[in-house]
Amino acid sequence: MANTATIEINGQKQEFPLIEGTEKEVAIDIKALRAATGGFITLDPGYKNTGSCESGITFLDGEKGILRYRGYTIEELAEKADFLEVAFLLIFGELPTKEQLDKFHEDIKKNSIVDEDVKKILDAFPKAAHPMGVLSSLTSALTAFNPSSVDVDSEEDMYNSVVRILGKFPVLVAWAMRKKSGMPLDYGDKNLGYVENILKMMFKKPNEEYVQNKILVDALDKLLILHADHEQNCSTSTVRIVGSSHAGLFASISAGISALWGPLHGGANQAVLEMLEAIKEDGGDTKKYMAKAKDKADPFRLMGFGHRVYKNFDPRAKIIKVAADEVLGDLGIEDPILNIAKGLEQEALNDDYFVKRKLYPNVDFYSGIIYRAMEIPTDMFTVMFALGRLPGWIAQWREMRLRKEPIGRPRQLYTGATKRAFVSINKR
Ligand code: CMC
Repeated sequence: MANTATIEINGQKQEFPLIEGTEKEVAIDIKALRAATGGFITLDPGYKNTGSCESGITFLDGEKGILRYRGYTIEELAEKADFLEVAFLLIFGELPTKEQLDKFHEDIKKNSIVDEDVKKILDAFPKAAHPMGVLSSLTSALTAFNPSSVDVDSEEDMYNSVVRILGKFPVLVAWAMRKKSGMPLDYGDKNLGYVENILKMMFKKPNEEYVQNKILVDALDKLLILHADHEQNCSTSTVRIVGSSHAGLFASISAGISALWGPLHGGANQAVLEMLEAIKEDGGDTKKYMAKAKDKADPFRLMGFGHRVYKNFDPRAKIIKVAADEVLGDLGIEDPILNIAKGLEQEALNDDYFVKRKLYPNVDFYSGIIYRAMEIPTDMFTVMFALGRLPGWIAQWREMRLRKEPIGRPRQLYTGATKRAFVSINKR
């Protein structure tokens, strides 16, 4: 294979190096493009063809449906690892030894207290506020309560910020949910595992003991692992670009939460369930909704279908579909919504419109069904996605800082008015 690509502009040829990744993917290195061509830029809205960084964290192959964290397959990690192990793997690059994992967990637990004054901020939100907005604001507010996490230069500073956010974030998640349902806030239990503690913080009632349900712990563990990283998606790119200005970790993560909130990204899991419920209320006519999704005059899209990168299947969706069946079976739940979801999937997989455009169920299609079985309110689904994605955001932020990446600052092709004279207000 050639090791350069040639661009010819107005008869002038310029060569640009090709860079090969460890999985044999190839990129044209255009770092010198503007200098070599006298100011030409590339134009790629939505970054469909643009690599923003080199990264050693997550590999995915959309054609083959492959997803690996640090070289380990998502299938193996979902089956054999727990969420905290995966978090360590993503952030620090290797699976932890037992000692490393214990220390990591201890450090997280030591940092799991949130300043009582944060409750005053939480109190100021209306009850109807969406928990993603609340979570993003409270995460940003953590900066004010932990000023030493802003100016991080050394690896030690970074480590301290990492364990701080991993300790406090689940507390904020639980508080956002409990506040909405009128439950008192608490700080969980240091003696529990990371995921067990999250469930207890979310669901413990003030007048009874919380009893752990292994089925729920395992299901949540798996869901969080499946969501833990997905290379340069919208929210992760946001975290990297905000962090590239050397804004602190909490501010960067807060921005990532806002990006994740949108229905085309993490907000899709909430949208999927609302869509399935609407179909059920409407008599369960999946064909009608298939037709709406295909009608270009109708803004309706089949939520939970399609992916920017996966064009054959989403490996996470495969695992989640099986998990949804298991969890509902184990809990003895008959959910008509699951049947509507399966029917819709079958129709889409056999429909020309979806087949031609390579639209398959994505990670969000079945996750909401499990969250619902766990009695997590629908508007908390995207918050659960954020909880899972947290280690990925942290890992990407840390990698970006350690590699001393420059500030993110894309170019544009200006298409507005050319220079014109100011017109005074009485002449407009
Ligand atoms: N229902 C109906 N048509 C669709 C859908 C859908 N869900 N998704 C894409 N299309 C059509 C789209 O109208 C377009 O058709 P045409 O070529 O005739 O104009 C074609 O498929 C390509 O779509 P696109 O919007 O250009 O594709 P994209 O790569 O820019 O967008 C996507 C990917 C995920 C935003 C999109 O498929 C979508 O909106 N899906 C529904 C929302 C969703 O489930 N999002 C969760 C993504 S996975 C979790 C995550 O990463 O956050």
